[in-house]
Amino acid sequence: MITSMIAAMGSNRVIGKDNDIPWHLPDDFRYFKETTKNHYVIMGRKNWESLPPKFQPLPQRPNLVITRQSDYLAEGATVFQSLEDALATARKMGEKEAFIIGGGEIYRQGLALADKIYLTEINGDFEGEITFPEFDQGKWIEISRDHHDIDDKHRYSFDFVVYKKK
Ligand SMILES: NC(=O)c1ccc[n+]([C@@H]2O[C@H](COP(=O)([O-])OP(=O)(O)OC[C@H]3O[C@@H](n4cnc5c(N)ncnc54)[C@H](OP(=O)(O)O)[C@@H]3O)[C@@H](O)[C@H]2O)c1
Repeated sequence: MITSMIAAMGSNRVIGKDNDIPWHLPDDFRYFKETTKNHYVIMGRKNWESLPPKFQPLPQRPNLVITRQSDYLAEGATVFQSLEDALATARKMGEKEAFIIGGGEIYRQGLALADKIYLTEINGDFEGEITFPEFDQGKWIEISRDHHDIDDKHRYSFDFVVYKKK
């Protein structure tokens, strides 16, 4: 099974502010939806709680939520006490590519486990306390980059980048 991470970050590595995402880029949401559809998605408890009610769970994909709380309930999702346990379940179920979908705390732990990173690199600096972890460019190779310009629905330009662990 391939373990992937998927995230969108600003030029200053910000990915979140006050348990929300500090931009609105519909084509990035579409990319996220299409890339992860029908795959296991694994997220931290805070990311789960930040999802709007109609996306809780994210439709058409098994949602796995990580928490240290033993009695946590996430309706429509399955709860795990570690990232490794969640990934082992996805593997056992025959998943070919599981996606770690954040947030910051989970990405930090996922970096050591991931084979691929789908990173939307947004050309703008944002305020926010949650960042995507620095990763050693020497250990990862960029395998694709697709540029998206500013338009009437997108206030920032961005690149859909895919990195693979060497
Ligand atoms: N831009 C993007 O691509 C993107 C994507 C996703 C999320 N976000 C943003 O990221 C922010 C949320 O990130 P965050 O760092 O605050 O939280 P998070 O990573 O979503 O969740 C953290 C929680 O996960 C649980 N956890 C973490 N490590 C664990 C482990 N080893 N074992 C068991 N449970 C573990 C803990 O839950 P308990 O406290 O319940 O134990 C912890 O409080 C939001 O602002 C969200 O909008 C951005």
